[in-house]
Amino acid sequence: MRKKLMVANWKMYKTPDQTRDFFRAFLPLIADHTRDEIAVCPSFVCLAAAVEAAKGSHVAIGGQNLHWEKEGAYTGEISAGMLLAAGCTHVIIGHSERRQYFGETDDTVNRKLKTALEAGLTPIVCVGEVLEEREAGLTEDVLRRQCLRAFHAISGKKAGKLVIAYEPVWAIGTGKTATPRLAAEAHVLIRGDKMAESLRILYGGSVKPENAKSLMSEEEIDGALVGGSSLNATSFAAIIKY
Ligand code: PGA
Repeated sequence: MRKKLMVANWKMYKTPDQTRDFFRAFLPLIADHTRDEIAVCPSFVCLAAAVEAAKGSHVAIGGQNLHWEKEGAYTGEISAGMLLAAGCTHVIIGHSERRQYFGETDDTVNRKLKTALEAGLTPIVCVGEVLEEREAGLTEDVLRRQCLRAFHAISGKKAGKLVIAYEPVWAIGTGKTATPRLAAEAHVLIRGDKMAESLRILYGGSVKPENAKSLMSEEEIDGALVGGSSLNATSFAAIIKY
């Protein structure tokens, strides 16, 4: 049995004060919940507040992005070392919003993934098809291509902590959720025969308290990457405790 990982992706929401408020409300709600691993990924400016607030709890903190270089003249970017120094243990890589709006490609995902693994961070690599691809019957091809390129030259041994998040793009922030069956099918496809049995594949895309149980009951779904519904302590806790 793989332990589930429940991740909050706060995107470009919340200030440091709002981050502290969240943790004040959230930690008591999940204090006894040790069944799953929990991680919260706030914006970079809220990392310090989140790490401080989560101290002593079993909630891990992660970044939403990183650069593949150690340091350099890359205005606006952040390195693996900086994330580690801030107290992060996790990092999201290749979220569809970064691919769509900020020019991320399977190749940059691959570089970032290598850097994260080398630094000892737990990378959460996002893959998923857009609506047109699903409707054209291309889901399988897209997922295969994204995984092949993202995991290029990364051996099973090195992949150690890798986590994949399957996020059908048409389900992100739209209220449309993949059915548990459909998500599970995609997960089987991603795992293929090359991925280790221990690899965790999360589902993301409009996960809410109302659908968490049916999704998380699928054996192939090893946790959730939650956007909108993770901003509220009560609803994220309800998802975790489904
Ligand atoms: P959503 O976002 O839960 O708001 O659909 C998920 C994500 O983008 O990670």
